[in-house]
Amino acid sequence: MKTTVGIVGAGPAGLTLALLLRAREIDSVVLERRDRSYVEERVRAGLLEQNTVDLMRELGVAARLDQEGLPHDGVYLRWQGQTLHIPMTELTGRTITIYGQQQVVRDLIDACGERGIEVRFEVEDVAVHGLDSDSPHITFAGEGGEERLDCELIAGCDGFHGVCRPAIPAGVLTEYEYEYPFGWLGILAEAAPTTDELIYAWHEHGFSLYSMRSPEISRLYLQVPADEDIADWPDERIWEELQARLGVDGWRVGEGRIFDKGVTPMRSFVCEPMQFGRLFLAGDAAHIVPPTGAKGLNLAVNDVRLLAAAMGAHFADGDDSLLERYSADALRRVWRAQDFSNFMTQLLHRLDDGEPFGARLQLARLEQLKRSEAARRNLAENYVGLPAAPDF
Ligand code: FAD
Ligand code: DHB
Repeated sequence: MKTTVGIVGAGPAGLTLALLLRAREIDSVVLERRDRSYVEERVRAGLLEQNTVDLMRELGVAARLDQEGLPHDGVYLRWQGQTLHIPMTELTGRTITIYGQQQVVRDLIDACGERGIEVRFEVEDVAVHGLDSDSPHITFAGEGGEERLDCELIAGCDGFHGVCRPAIPAGVLTEYEYEYPFGWLGILAEAAPTTDELIYAWHEHGFSLYSMRSPEISRLYLQVPADEDIADWPDERIWEELQARLGVDGWRVGEGRIFDKGVTPMRSFVCEPMQFGRLFLAGDAAHIVPPTGAKGLNLAVNDVRLLAAAMGAHFADGDDSLLERYSADALRRVWRAQDFSNFMTQLLHRLDDGEPFGARLQLARLEQLKRSEAARRNLAENYVGLPAAPDF
């Protein structure tokens, strides 16, 4: 097989890239290890920055998003019985939208199908070759045995545990990593949300987040130890803990049947550069943020926005200047998001370092958010995401 850009991974990064390239009349093939329903049902993020929504609209894949997405103008922070509203739209002029990642992925896969972009599911043993040669190619095991995809450029959009980043020779990449001693237990429940906006809650027992997917479905998270066994969390214990951490006098979290639950560990990770020869990494393949800032999916989409423009200039005009600086351009936003995600995480999670000092600092920072519009504005600007300048 032959194509112009070989894309590994059919997550938000890989699928969005394929569509952005198609809009520039550049062919690609997407290779995905899992089957279609697995990819479409994998429950993950849910908060889209305005940049992400704008890009989905430009791509013409936002019909369902515009119908079913829930626009939000702010979030609440809650601690020690107090609730502070951060009016994001008032402070920044920008909005956020709740729309599940699996819905985004389903819409993108449908659009690829409609536009004749080949997405090959259930391919095994994907390996990338010739990265610093003139003949980069990808091998994989498909239905007919070993297959080979020749391409001019390769996009590694295969997530944190993918094969593209490890294929870069030793010594090229510098990796920056921080692992948190906690993770998130996330649930989806058939329960009408009893809040109009998301609630990020600080509590002595640990962090908790109240989000949603629709007027009937709630999405909720609890901070738990990183190695927590989900078997130790029967539904009654989850609700009890959510009520303890999120509840206030006269108000409760709406309960209902839990139909999905899982524990996600938390880490911060960046590799630099995000490219080697003809291989370009995008999304979780190059960086991971803790979910507290709701940035992972949005960063993945921003990477491929920059990458598609750079590949476009390469194929249309033979101009490689954007490709050469792709990594530097993408990393500016990545590090801003790393800092914000770390800030939100350290602000709201129980630190468990045995020292009461950290908790007092957290309360002082929350108090400052209550008193200072400058502090609220700073949080809001980071949370809604900075506008998509060509190089940011
Ligand atoms: P992915 O979505 O990981 O897509 C990569 C794709 O590559 C996958 O489909 C994978 O199957 C495929 N792949 C992997 N290896 C290979 C291979 N060898 N060959 C072929 N295909 C391969 N972010 C938030 O903001 N909020 C959250 O609540 C949140 N929760 C998360 C929960 C989990 C369990 C995880 C893993 C991530 C979560 N994130 C969250 C982060 C967010 O979902 C990611 O940042 C986002 O999915 C990144 O998109 P991506 O396309 O880069 O990678
Ligand atoms: C959701 C996830 C997040 O990590 C976050 O910060 C906000 C919302 C969600 O899944 O809805």
